[in-house]
Amino acid sequence: MDQETLKKCVDEAINSRRSVRAFLAEPIPRKTIEEILALASRAPSGTNTQPWRVRVLTGNAKQRLSAAIKASYFHVSGGPKDTPEYDYYPRQWFSPYVDRRRKIGFDLYGLLNIKKDEKQRMIEQMGKNFEFFGAPVGLIFTIDRRLGQGSWLDYGFFLENIAIAARARGLHTCPQAAFADFPQTIGSHLKFEPEEMLVCGMSLGFEDTSAPENRLKTDREPVSGFTQFFDE
Ligand SMILES: Cc1cc2nc3c(=O)[nH]c(=O)nc-3n(C[C@H](O)[C@H](O)[C@H](O)COP(=O)(O)O)c2cc1C
Repeated sequence: MDQETLKKCVDEAINSRRSVRAFLAEPIPRKTIEEILALASRAPSGTNTQPWRVRVLTGNAKQRLSAAIKASYFHVSGGPKDTPEYDYYPRQWFSPYVDRRRKIGFDLYGLLNIKKDEKQRMIEQMGKNFEFFGAPVGLIFTIDRRLGQGSWLDYGFFLENIAIAARARGLHTCPQAAFADFPQTIGSHLKFEPEEMLVCGMSLGFEDTSAPENRLKTDREPVSGFTQFFDE
């Protein structure tokens, strides 16, 4: 492939990736999922440690996991509440991050016509995370808790590769830290090893283009806002 075509394809795959929050039920062949994961595993990792471990859930297995998490989420089970194993977000929010976080929440709820005081609708929208937003494939990622922070860096490369490889096949994704709030529910359901720690989940499938939430467009700071060049 010539350089110009490669640039166009890679740029398009990166630029067209966004978090999709409503999917079509259309199933994805297992071969495609395996192909995406094999490609993603070409991600670099410190001393080639490859710290990823993936559970792929489809069909009834996906539905059973969703039901277990939703029971914990909506507290209908009466069981003990899960305890997250790591802080994805800071305990105390501050600018500019809190402003960006507020904007996406505001924009998403705006598209769904959910008003500020409609707490129940917010809870239900959040709950859609646990149905993998209707996607036919749910991915759950774990890491060996004995590994260091560096392995979490490696994990990010791997996750992004999945998202980009998905785009090249006309598929979309949504990475989901929401699952990290339910490590005990998910861990006992999927029979995690004691050293396995839940990192996050991801939805994978074809976008439902009719869903208003998928019209969400997110901004980015210009390069000059986060970069300094040093040349003297
Ligand atoms: C590790 C990670 C976890 C995320 N967790 C969630 C989640 O639980 N639910 C959700 O709807 N979006 C989640 N997102 C999506 C972000 O909100 C999204 O990436 C961000 O707003 C930028 O939008 P874009 O992905 O469409 O470019 C997550 C993204 C990342 C990278």
